Amino acid sequence: MSDRDVRIFEVGPRDGLQNESVPISTNAKLRFIGLLADAGLREIEATSFVSPKAIPQLADAEAVLAGLERRPGVRYPVLVPNARGMERAEAAGADAICVFTAASEAFTQANINMTITESIDAFRPVIDRARERGWWSRGYVSTAFGCPYQGEVGEAAVVAVAQQLLELGVDELSIGDTIGVAAPADVRRVVGALDTAGIGPDRLAMHFHDTRGTALANVAAALEMGLRTFDASTGGTGGCPYAPGAAGNLATEDLVYLLEREGLEHGVDLDALLVAARHVSETLGRPVSTKVGLAGGWRVP
Ligand code: HMG
Ligand code: MG
Repeated sequence: MSDRDVRIFEVGPRDGLQNESVPISTNAKLRFIGLLADAGLREIEATSFVSPKAIPQLADAEAVLAGLERRPGVRYPVLVPNARGMERAEAAGADAICVFTAASEAFTQANINMTITESIDAFRPVIDRARERGWWSRGYVSTAFGCPYQGEVGEAAVVAVAQQLLELGVDELSIGDTIGVAAPADVRRVVGALDTAGIGPDRLAMHFHDTRGTALANVAAALEMGLRTFDASTGGTGGCPYAPGAAGNLATEDLVYLLEREGLEHGVDLDALLVAARHVSETLGRPVSTKVGLAGGWRVP
């Protein structure tokens, strides 16, 4: 990858839908994933093998993987919280997984009913198995910029959990602003601390929620620090039932527009992406509300 190439890691079918209360059919999810691949996305987080009691919306994870029309060159990672999730993911034919913990104890407890240390212990056999099978893996560090229960989170806590996840052998980390509180100075502080600890931009993705409208500013700050992988959700949906106050993820269409104007390569066709964004809105029965979803790309008359 050249320095002008940016990876967009699409989280719409997972993070985007997990907190929605309207029933969404497996077919509507599969159509969404297909439209995202049509638009050129090459990493599409498809679903989660978590407890259906914790996330009822993704209880059809097996059906989603069974119905997936896999496109060549596209990776479809799934969330796995424990050994049970790994068994389900294997049986369903997954080949890329994401484990997820956080930089704050209170959120980790609320989200996965484990301490941070317990979560690392739970992930060890999962990542061992994934490596044995040659699967790609990622580790999420949530609440890296703030916790809905504990408040401010120091960068030392982020570095500590990041190091533990890397020691397990994950391929990359995604650093999450779960409730959307960060501003560029926070991004510089956290990414700088990771870099000082020897965890450089090539091992990192940034995962911004846009609760307070700072996500694109945070992307710009991260780009300046050499980051080249960003998570985003087409249609701008997203949130976590265990992160009260979290609004949508950074919208993929807003990110694509920014990257385009910055002259960076991203491989996504904006018009085709907006078809996927409209599909999400129709599925959820809500009008499109993202900036670029409303305005479209800019065509010089
Ligand atoms: P627990 O209740 O402590 O688990 O939940 P348990 O091991 O005691 O099991 C309780 C029951 O769940 C049992 O069933 C298990 O079989 C079942 P029962 O005997 O009661 O019928 N169970 C499972 N079923 C299916 N699949 C599994 C599984 N594991 C146990 N994998 C657990 C612990 C981790 C399972 C639960 O808390 C959970 O699933 N949490 C997931 C929460 C979640 O998905 N949150 C959203 C994703 S994180 C996020 O959005 C942040 C992110 O976007 C980044 C950012 O924004 O920062 C990634
Ligand atoms: Mg998230």
